[in-house]
Amino acid sequence: MSTIIEAKNLNLGYKNDENIIKDASFSINAREFVFITGASGSGKSTILSSLYGYLPIRSGGLEVYGVNMLRASKAKIHYLRQNIGIVFQDYKLVKEWNIEKNVMLPMVINGYKKEICKSQVERLLVHIKLSHKASKFPLELSGGEQQRVAMARALAHNPAIILADEPTGNLDDYSSELIWGLLKGVNEQLGITVVVVTHRLPERLSINYRRLHIEEGVVYEFS
Ligand SMILES: Nc1ncnc2c1ncn2[C@@H]1O[C@H](COP(=O)(O)OP(=O)(O)OP(=O)(O)O)[C@@H](O)[C@H]1O
Ligand SMILES: [Mg+2]
Repeated sequence: MSTIIEAKNLNLGYKNDENIIKDASFSINAREFVFITGASGSGKSTILSSLYGYLPIRSGGLEVYGVNMLRASKAKIHYLRQNIGIVFQDYKLVKEWNIEKNVMLPMVINGYKKEICKSQVERLLVHIKLSHKASKFPLELSGGEQQRVAMARALAHNPAIILADEPTGNLDDYSSELIWGLLKGVNEQLGITVVVVTHRLPERLSINYRRLHIEEGVVYEFS
């Protein structure tokens, strides 16, 4: 199995504050399904930010999809993001764009043809049960609906890796099952590597997963 994410003695933090993630070493193989858990404020979103190239690493090593994050050029980060789908904890939908255009964004960036964009968006909106909201704008949707749109956008360009930050944090049981089912499906059928931050592991998810847990800045394998 090939390694797709590798952290070695990784230190992460903000400004002059002390390290939030301390000396973390972990690796994730292609096609794995990995949960990241830990208390509020433990550094879960911080880890995802570093994997996406948002937060520069302080020291140690981090390689994501073949990109060395210590010295990554803008072009390399752009390349990396073309191959990652991300669901931010606060969604980050473009509020001036309707739902269809929001979901289309990664495909436009990746140069997909217009007809393919259209059909892919339609398919994804069916999956998240929001076809009837395609022409609405984010602020016309509930929080949970926006969260589902963020998930559809993350999947739009068939990325190699999905990073999802509390993707069911605002959802009821029914919609949570929908999202877990979607992630399980892309993991098993498309071989997409899934890294999900959650404080509540799905109860009925029959999937082989690994769990990395953060406690006091230390990341360890939880089994
Ligand atoms: N931009 C920032 N500047 C300074 N400190 C930050 C910044 N973002 C996060 N932190 C701090 O880093 C720590 C970890 O934050 P992070 O957002 O990674 O936690 P989390 O595990 O995702 O928590 P939650 O479950 O509440 O989302 C917190 O103590 C937080 O205050
Ligand atoms: Mg967080």
